[in-house]
Amino acid sequence: MPDFIADLPKVELHLHIEGTLEPELVFSLAKRNGITLNYLDESALRAAYEFDDLQSFLNIYYLGMQVLLTEQDFYDLTWSYLSRCHAENVRHVEIFFDPQAHLERKVAMKCMVLGIHRALEQAQKQWGISSCLILSFLRHLSEASAFDTLRLAEPFRHYFSGVGLDSAEKDNPPSKFSRVFKAAKEQGYRLVAHAGEEGPAEYIWQALDVLNVERIDHGVAAINDAPLMARLAKERIPLTVCPLSNLKLKVIQQMSELPIAQFLDAGVCVTINSDDPAYFGGYMNANYQALQEAINLSKADILRLALNGVEACWLDEAEKMVLT
Ligand code: HPA
Ligand code: ZN
Repeated sequence: MPDFIADLPKVELHLHIEGTLEPELVFSLAKRNGITLNYLDESALRAAYEFDDLQSFLNIYYLGMQVLLTEQDFYDLTWSYLSRCHAENVRHVEIFFDPQAHLERKVAMKCMVLGIHRALEQAQKQWGISSCLILSFLRHLSEASAFDTLRLAEPFRHYFSGVGLDSAEKDNPPSKFSRVFKAAKEQGYRLVAHAGEEGPAEYIWQALDVLNVERIDHGVAAINDAPLMARLAKERIPLTVCPLSNLKLKVIQQMSELPIAQFLDAGVCVTINSDDPAYFGGYMNANYQALQEAINLSKADILRLALNGVEACWLDEAEKMVLT
């Protein structure tokens, strides 16, 4: 089974590029940028990767990314993730970045975008890995801050395929961003949002009906809402589920609780992704593998999950054919 998973061409649709920052890269970028870290070494930092919930992870996630300052830093970060994709036979990626978290440190939008884009372009040329870039708003910040970010992105509009919504879900409902998502839609962005990770199924309804997103990131809370399950299945609205993330952030207590088999049986377009692999203990193959072992997925189930990824991605039909 590990070979079957490793050899399978895969698509990744839920990945925060800042969440691929491995402790080794944190330390080398800190050194290059003259930043002193509060951790003695890589293993001390890695030892801090024990989380109780989403917020305890976000605290360390925002801390780690402070070493990212220059265009080269964003390039190196993205290139290191894409090298991993190449090694794991991930053929297409749709990746998030969190501009507000870097603007706070006076890093220019241009610097983030050009650094990430240069790596994406090189991976396409060198390895044939295709990609989309998704600008994600931080939902713990204000609507005004999200609007500022959308405005700052305007000169770089052609680098982005869509906008997303991430960070602390509790008490930050999708409806807080209805006007920003409407404005983004008018600028031709495709729309996705994290919903139903720690938040209720109600937030998934809001993401669909108020924000008008076409894909839900996480969405595992849908399992408790039969009418929502029926809607997701009927409209083939994709869920980008992240097994190791859900386990590490205690959304589930054991991998066997993850309702992937139920989603598949119900006809929901569920996909497997790695979210923040440097923090959660594994990239794409590790996510498929941990899930397979926990719920005894068959090869046919795994193939279905990978094909759902192709169906859910933003390539055109001809490009999708190449992946299957
Ligand atoms: N959820 C919310 N915000 C995030 C995540 C996540 O899984 N990863 C990075 N930011
Ligand atoms: Zn995420």
